[in-house]
Amino acid sequence: MKMMLNIYCGCFAMRGMQDWEGDEMKKLYFGSNLKMYKTIRETAEYLGELAKRTKDIDRNEMELFIIPSYTSLAEAAKTVEPHLVKLGAQNMCWEEKGQFTGEISPLMLKELGIELVMVGHSERRHVFHESDEEENRKVRCVLEQGMKALLCIGETAKEKEYSTSAETLRTQLKVGLYKVSEKWIPDIRIAYEPVWSIGVNGTPASAGYAQRMHRMIKQTLIEVFGEAGGKIPVLYGGSVNLQNAEELIVQPDIDGLFVGRAAWDAEPFDRLIRRAMCAHRGRSC
Ligand code: PGA
Repeated sequence: MKMMLNIYCGCFAMRGMQDWEGDEMKKLYFGSNLKMYKTIRETAEYLGELAKRTKDIDRNEMELFIIPSYTSLAEAAKTVEPHLVKLGAQNMCWEEKGQFTGEISPLMLKELGIELVMVGHSERRHVFHESDEEENRKVRCVLEQGMKALLCIGETAKEKEYSTSAETLRTQLKVGLYKVSEKWIPDIRIAYEPVWSIGVNGTPASAGYAQRMHRMIKQTLIEVFGEAGGKIPVLYGGSVNLQNAEELIVQPDIDGLFVGRAAWDAEPFDRLIRRAMCAHRGRSC
């Protein structure tokens, strides 16, 4: 019950179902970006295995999405049923067609039945130097094309050191969502991934720090869209693993986990999801 109370203190993310006490339970979101890993065959095997392992979990209670490389998307779309695993693309051009060598158009993704497009992953921002303005053009295009946009935001270690994390995150949100109409709210997801927490050299954010940032992100979303902005799911990402998934997911303003390395094998990812869902419900599993 104590954990339940902790969960229900979260004032923003309530939607959907009721638990056994008649209180509302929020839907949880779990996803993974496969980055530049896995061949077509490996992706298909992984997706098949993940769908099989997780198919008994009620999709009204959780949404599961995987973001493979472009070259695997066509085969991936043939492999999994979309209600079990939603497929996303790692990036997209903001134009439908044109002289954009090396880019992928929203029409090409829609042709494959892709539902979600990730925009502004830390590696796009910091390795490929994408700007907030570019992310905004992409977010608007994704939504106008009828797909869901997963906007990734996160501060660098230096910004954290200077105590300017809030400024960075608020700018990334406000520019990234500039001129996005509130009618698109159901199609927006945010992933908060501190740059210093991502990858082999990353340190996971503490649950307390992540919660404080998530609270601020939700407040900014309300500022941008009005009260309805508080319904946008905000996922935490950055060195999520089997050890820290539970303490992160029970935070009132964390609506899901965006997992890299710890999700790239179906069996431990399935375990992580179940562990997090049990913790969220205040049950031991
Ligand atoms: P990680 O990756 O979980 O391996 O740190 C997270 C990400 O880049 O999305």
